Amino acid sequence: MFSNQGPNEITVFNPDAIELLDGFSNETTRDVWYDIVRPRTSAVFTRDRLEHKEGRKFWAQGLSNKAMNEYNPRMASLAKDVSRCIGTYGKEPVDIDQVMSWFSWDVMGEVLFGEDFNLTKSKVTHPGIKHRDRALALAGPLGDAIWIALLGFQLLPPVGIVKDWHNMIQFCEDHMKSRLSRGGNNKTDMATYFIEEYKRTADTKTKRARDLHLAGTAVTAVVAGSDTTRAVLIGIWWFLSQDPEHAKKLQSEIDGVDVTDPNALAALPHLNGVIQEALRLVPPVMTGGNRITGPNGMLIGDVHIPPGVKVTCPKYVLHRMESMWVQPNDFIPERWYSRPELILDKRAFSPFSYGARYCLGKNMAVNAMRLVVATILRDYDVSFAPGYDKDTMWRDMRDQVTCQPGAVFCVFRPRTSAE
Ligand code: HEM
Repeated sequence: MFSNQGPNEITVFNPDAIELLDGFSNETTRDVWYDIVRPRTSAVFTRDRLEHKEGRKFWAQGLSNKAMNEYNPRMASLAKDVSRCIGTYGKEPVDIDQVMSWFSWDVMGEVLFGEDFNLTKSKVTHPGIKHRDRALALAGPLGDAIWIALLGFQLLPPVGIVKDWHNMIQFCEDHMKSRLSRGGNNKTDMATYFIEEYKRTADTKTKRARDLHLAGTAVTAVVAGSDTTRAVLIGIWWFLSQDPEHAKKLQSEIDGVDVTDPNALAALPHLNGVIQEALRLVPPVMTGGNRITGPNGMLIGDVHIPPGVKVTCPKYVLHRMESMWVQPNDFIPERWYSRPELILDKRAFSPFSYGARYCLGKNMAVNAMRLVVATILRDYDVSFAPGYDKDTMWRDMRDQVTCQPGAVFCVFRPRTSAE
């Protein structure tokens, strides 16, 4: 299935496209949208294939299993903070977006900068979150005409959303600069590897180019590291409140397991099923990933797409197609472990993208989600807050670079049987 979006743009609803667009032998380049952080650069926001390949190595080190062993205990401790934070609400409704934003921002601070932003403990929203959200609200709709945004950032007075954009960039840049000058707090963090890249390229790049690259990398890491897991977590609390049987099943799986041990959590089938199913129905990158076909164009089925065409293959749609999934719109975690017959074409599942451009933060994101879901469910039962209209999350959901679900309010009651 195809849909023409413009003279030179096509949207494809076919899992064959995933391999062709991003597989290791793909011939595509990224679309002009990836210029969004210019004049800053980063391995993720570049259209240059070599720059991408070289820069990806430092991200891979910063998110390797060895590095994860350093981050996991710190993420487990932040998950405990969230559970304590939820306890302070008593019988009052918890604004899930707010609390999950605090958690994901705290995780990003610890993992990226080795710094505790303390949001979950202080229950204060960092201004950086507001700037990020408003900046993404601009970057999303302008995806097809990114030059408007880039011109606007240069020429328009820094007010309104333009100001938010500058503030977000400034926050990321300032934090990376201060991390560079202060050193590493005796903690391994992702910045360790980005600073290594900064130093190693001293002979081949000007200082200005290196400064712009470090700043662009910081912006990328803040957005990728904080705004993605938040969306899935909001979805998870919605699904568990909607269908408490899944929460009970999770609790019986979690009880008796050390919820601070990522290896133990990785072995729990229902927990993994819940996360996979939430990633399917609330993919943090709903569309995105626009590519330009290479010199040979692209053959999808019997349709030839000429060279130089922008191709989009939206995950949100692929994840819900009847030809790929049985009961596509239903939340059935079991399809990932005991009911594989409910998955008709597994290739259609690509929340973390694929191949040469596969998400390097997958392990970190999944570990953070397992830790926080398990820790909270060990301590509480969850349900929708009285009077909450459960359609709100879907009705107000926005595709703004990352998925922005509508509001979710839940109440958490301490479990009498909790350890
Ligand atoms: C549930 C959480 C997450 C999801 C669903 C997700 C999804 C994705 C997707 C779809 C892409 C491809 C984007 C594109 O091609 O434009 C991507 C790339 C990437 N993600 Fe994630 N991401 C998540 C969390 C994270 C985290 C926590 C980090 C680490 C800070 C991270 C780091 C990256 C990096 C470095 C890339 C670029 C890979 C490349 O260009 O080679 N992600 N992610």
